[in-house]
Amino acid sequence: MDPLSRERWEWSPEQIRQVGHRVIDLIADHLSELPDQPVFRPFPNERARAMLDEPLPHDGAEADAILDRFAAEILPYPLGNGHPRFFGWVNGPPVVLGVLAEALAAAMNPSVAGGNHAATYVERQALEWLKQLVGLDRDAMGLLVSGGSAATLIGLAAARHHATGGAVRRQGVDGRLVVYASDQGHSAIAKAVELLGLGSERLRVLPSTADWRLDPAALGTAIDRDRAEGLVPMAVAASAGTVNTGAIDPLAELAELCREQGVWLHVDGAYGAPGILHAGYRAELEPLARADSVALDAHKWLNVPYDAGAVFVRDAELMRDAFSLVPPYLREHADPDGVTWLPWLSEYGLEQTRAFRALKLWMSLAYHGRAGYTASIGRDVAHAQRLAELVVAHPALELVAHNLSIVCLRCVPAGVPEDELNALNERILRELQLGGEAFLSGTTLDGRFVLRACFVNPRTREQDVDRLVAAVARLSPPATGSPPAPSGR
Ligand SMILES: Cc1ncc(COP(=O)(O)O)c(C=O)c1O
Repeated sequence: MDPLSRERWEWSPEQIRQVGHRVIDLIADHLSELPDQPVFRPFPNERARAMLDEPLPHDGAEADAILDRFAAEILPYPLGNGHPRFFGWVNGPPVVLGVLAEALAAAMNPSVAGGNHAATYVERQALEWLKQLVGLDRDAMGLLVSGGSAATLIGLAAARHHATGGAVRRQGVDGRLVVYASDQGHSAIAKAVELLGLGSERLRVLPSTADWRLDPAALGTAIDRDRAEGLVPMAVAASAGTVNTGAIDPLAELAELCREQGVWLHVDGAYGAPGILHAGYRAELEPLARADSVALDAHKWLNVPYDAGAVFVRDAELMRDAFSLVPPYLREHADPDGVTWLPWLSEYGLEQTRAFRALKLWMSLAYHGRAGYTASIGRDVAHAQRLAELVVAHPALELVAHNLSIVCLRCVPAGVPEDELNALNERILRELQLGGEAFLSGTTLDGRFVLRACFVNPRTREQDVDRLVAAVARLSPPATGSPPAPSGR
């Protein structure tokens, strides 16, 4: 077809079907063949270089040729998402209906800034369903965002608005606002504190307790000290499932402390909030409902394709006050039968044009329902439990932390001194990641480099957990001395 013709912009239904069927075949083959592929293979360096050097084509190519390239050069090299033995970071496989929803959403291509069209109601409904799933207040306002980082920024921006009585919008920050988090808080908190103009010196990073949680006593002392110095405690950024160990901060105590102190409580439930569906974690996570703002990533433990983050703010009006800025060319008057009825979603956050992220979330929640997610989260927690037990039973492995669906472990072969264990475990991690059998990520806890597994993959089976342990043990050098003493915190 002439690359300059109008028809390239206006495909016939036959053409859409023909290319679309090929796309569906690629999706079906990829998702079904993943378990038989290496968990990870790095993108070949010469290909990466060629890609970075390739100039923009002058003339467009045909769709089939582009899909050929996709199939050969791109599809085989994902970062492991979806493979049943990929346990790195917090990366799971996509809900299949969510994958297809992405194409449908793009076909409609609405801007979900607001207005009286279906997509805004799909977003509002999906957010209501998320609130119901994790037990948040019905009156809280929700918004879909790119992920936990954006959700943290929005939650803390609402806190900043609250702490300054709204004056921050006119006067900016005056250098006295303080945020509190534990040393296990996600880096998104520090980033938000910097972006909001508070300055990293205004983030109090409190040492976590022996079980990696925020210590309410230390927090109370820090707040009192700051107040005595004329500073303004703005927010506590707690975690409902830290990224390192899955630890849940003592949310009930923190909510009480924040209420007494008049300080905003933001809870980062980006990964862990859906853990409330597990009976063993319900009581610890129920106080999420008492937070002033909550981050929850549906693209983590709910397996909605990226990106699907959500932020909730209990005081909907305050959230709107913190962000709303409606220029004359966007101003509309509420008219249930007109173009605009409810306030625009863009008044509650920082994006004006907003993608139809909601459809994949809405379809995923509709497809699995509360019961389906409860079952898959139960299996993930059980896999973590199984891994923790296998690690404890293995003479060359040490269990360092275990909570929700995260397990941190080390190889500690007898005879290897403590000061060599970090280098040993780093080497083991690299070999494991490049070996293709199983994939973990790493982190550092109290100066100890540990291997970290996070189970958010409904396709993982018990035998995958067993294969992971066998793969790690194979990479560990043989014991040469007496067994190591447990290093515990
Ligand atoms: C606990 C926690 N909070 C926040 C984030 C940041 O979320 P995102 O990467 O979606 O921006 C992550 C990401 O892994 C996380 O695990």
